[in-house]
Amino acid sequence: MGKKAAAVTVCVVVAAAAAAGASVVARRQMKKSAKWSRAMGIVREFQDKCDSPIGKLRNLADAMTVEMHAGLASEGGSKLKMIISYVDNLPTGEEEGCFYALDLGGTNFRVLRVHLGGKDKDIIPTEFVEVPIPPCLMTRSSHELFDFIAEELAKFVATEDEKSHPFPGRQRELGFTFSFPVRQTSISSGTLIKWTKGFSIEDAVGEDVVGELNKAMERVGLDMRVAALVNDTIGTLAGGRYYNPNVVAAIILGTGTNAAYVERANAIPKWQGPLPRSGDMVINMEWGNFRSSHLPLTEYDDDLDVASLNPGEQIFEKMISGMYLGEILRRVMLKMAEEAEFFGDTVPEKLKNPFILRTPHMSTMHHDTSSDLKDVASKLRDILEINNTTLRMRKVIVELCDTIATRGARLSAAGIYGILKKLGREITREGEDQKSVIALDGGLFEHYKKFKQCMESTLKELIGEEASDTIDIIHSNDGSGIGAALLAASHSQYL
Ligand code: GLC
Repeated sequence: MGKKAAAVTVCVVVAAAAAAGASVVARRQMKKSAKWSRAMGIVREFQDKCDSPIGKLRNLADAMTVEMHAGLASEGGSKLKMIISYVDNLPTGEEEGCFYALDLGGTNFRVLRVHLGGKDKDIIPTEFVEVPIPPCLMTRSSHELFDFIAEELAKFVATEDEKSHPFPGRQRELGFTFSFPVRQTSISSGTLIKWTKGFSIEDAVGEDVVGELNKAMERVGLDMRVAALVNDTIGTLAGGRYYNPNVVAAIILGTGTNAAYVERANAIPKWQGPLPRSGDMVINMEWGNFRSSHLPLTEYDDDLDVASLNPGEQIFEKMISGMYLGEILRRVMLKMAEEAEFFGDTVPEKLKNPFILRTPHMSTMHHDTSSDLKDVASKLRDILEINNTTLRMRKVIVELCDTIATRGARLSAAGIYGILKKLGREITREGEDQKSVIALDGGLFEHYKKFKQCMESTLKELIGEEASDTIDIIHSNDGSGIGAALLAASHSQYL
């Protein structure tokens, strides 16, 4: 072969190789774009299933009122327990004296000393300590949990001065906020029906929680009387009412979610006791356990429920509350990683850990306003060890946060609307200009701005322009602890 011919051959070979290389790149590109569209398919399907148009929310509100009636009619008549709280008088502002409160129900518990000053109520001087509950105590024995609580309470009592305990012979009194479903047997006693929110201590179920606390207080030598046992929703309602006589209901949006409201006692067929003088009875709905065929459930909710400590229970709570929102997000991201290689060809190890992604992380990502979504990038990197995400990927994560938070916020608005309907307060009635005020509290409501905004705007949408002036939402900051102290005061043995 001459020199020229050889050169031609080399050229042909090089050209062929280049063509082959290009097709590999093209194939890889195609594969990449196929993966992307598979991932987007997962996202779109999830979004479709989460959709909560206004008609669906109206159906849900109606289903909520139907269940409320059923739960009030008979014990076990509905998924909504509609627990009778034995609170038939809410604070008036006359309450006076120094009372303790214990607030147990989430990842932290708080002990408060509340100085009630009668009518002089602009501020209620309160001292408190907040103590994280060691996670192992949430699932061990009743004895260990209550001992831990009583010890912290005793330490706090030891810091009191003369002003806080002016009558040395008197027994100290406590309002105990215990935020789990309890069948109340009086204002100051009740048995635990079941645990929720990640607690699971078998030997406490069916026991009188005040009895358990009393025994633990005795063990640490603390002489204190539980004057009121209340749910956090009841405490929040009481705290809200102290400042505003138009408060008719209280909602907690925090680790868990729940609602309480003021019912007419004669509208409670299952109430066997005498008609209270006020004619009212506060009901703890335990709405976290609400369930309806109208709920926009997805496969991720089903899987989360099956893997939870309380499968089949608290379905509404698992779609709305702070304990679960981040976990739903993790589950969707995991599916995108497994089925569409969204984060590369291996599934990030950390993403497989249940509950590693918490709702505050999700909230930070959702509120990221930087042009390159740097907070999203850093959360993914720091928590999940997912590096090198592109802006396009990070935008998808923000979209997912939005879908999950929007669904939860809209569902909670539907629940509130259901309560207003039950009370007949969802429309303006002629001659009535009294406002209906709803007291809200909980970390989700307080810290997840977009959740709060969406919940409020959805409630307006449901109520309609005309009536929305008659309904107010207020933040009852720390209402549940102060509310428990107020209820302890109104049930004091020294009255
Ligand atoms: C859970 C509890 C309920 C509580 C709510 C908010 O739903 O069962 O009692 O009120 O969380 O803390």
